[in-house]
Amino acid sequence: MTVLVTGVAGFIGSHLAERLVGAGHKVVGVDCFTGYYPRAIKESNLAALREIDSFVFREEDLLCMELTGLLRNVDVVFHEAAQAGVRASWGSDFKVYIENNVRATQCLLEAAKDASLKKFLYASSSSIYGDAESYPTSEGMTPMPISPYGVTKLAAEHLCYLYHKNYGVPVLSLRYFTVYGPRQRPDMAFNKFIRAILRDEEIVIYGDGEQTRDFTYIDDIIDANISAMDAHLVGDVVNIGGGSRITVNEAIRVIENVAGKKARTKYVEKQKGDVRHTGADISRAEKMLGYRPAYNLEKGIANEFAWLRDMKF
Ligand SMILES: NC(=O)c1ccc[n+]([C@@H]2O[C@H](COP(=O)([O-])OP(=O)(O)OC[C@H]3O[C@@H](n4cnc5c(N)ncnc54)[C@H](O)[C@@H]3O)[C@@H](O)[C@H]2O)c1
Repeated sequence: MTVLVTGVAGFIGSHLAERLVGAGHKVVGVDCFTGYYPRAIKESNLAALREIDSFVFREEDLLCMELTGLLRNVDVVFHEAAQAGVRASWGSDFKVYIENNVRATQCLLEAAKDASLKKFLYASSSSIYGDAESYPTSEGMTPMPISPYGVTKLAAEHLCYLYHKNYGVPVLSLRYFTVYGPRQRPDMAFNKFIRAILRDEEIVIYGDGEQTRDFTYIDDIIDANISAMDAHLVGDVVNIGGGSRITVNEAIRVIENVAGKKARTKYVEKQKGDVRHTGADISRAEKMLGYRPAYNLEKGIANEFAWLRDMKF
């Protein structure tokens, strides 16, 4: 098949494209290297892909490029491009989130309605739940985001649904829960914690560290996407979580074990927009996608640790 991966130079998009070319698909990747984190990191994410003949890279902004032609002959769209990050989404930067998360998705869907796609997979987020009514959180819970980022991810999810309902675009939204592993974005907690421990610097924790997260290893996220390509499920949403929920303090103990040394920690004020807990009910993913997370935190953190130690960022 020919597939499109948007946001291909990013953390998740680059892993996804590698898996897809490895499985024999022709991959067209689009990324405009937004300034959210350094281009050098994204270039290193792309380095192996650039050597592969069945991978075509287009350095372009979804908001400016000609999308109808882009989707011609494409079978499946994996829409990973977005302005990520909860904490940076307040204030005047909100417009960047509106542009890259809402408007770019609408432009792509507009082109998708005239294309012959088998599937349009949208990378949604657990942030759409906000402080959820109950845990583990199932897809039926009312979405109540508490960050501007979450609002844009939810708006784009709704856009996916309405293009399905009105135009039959075969959308499926996968709600990822805190993804980690090699190439994790530099603004994300594990990346920051591991770099701090490698440099004998203080690990800064927002709040008391007793907030919980459903950490999901990157390979499990990719497995879910690959299964979703062929699944007979459209116009729907599916949680993709790691299968276990732990506190940030417990995660730091795991990092200490992997590093073989104690971390120095500093607790600072909780950040606005951060939810207290996340926890995915993954029974729909199990049933509809045959999804079963394969990585435990020890193994996944060891892989991210090894990557950061060798990258020396
Ligand atoms: N990482 C997580 O824990 C997590 C959790 C939930 C959802 N998600 C979602 O998964 C997707 C990928 O996240 P990530 O962590 O890999 O982020 P990332 O920032 O590493 O990758 C996103 C990429 O999209 C590109 N991009 C943004 N706007 C673009 C535009 N208008 N045109 C072309 N390219 C554009 C950026 O340059 C970047 O390389 C995002 O949609 C994000 O919201 C991620």
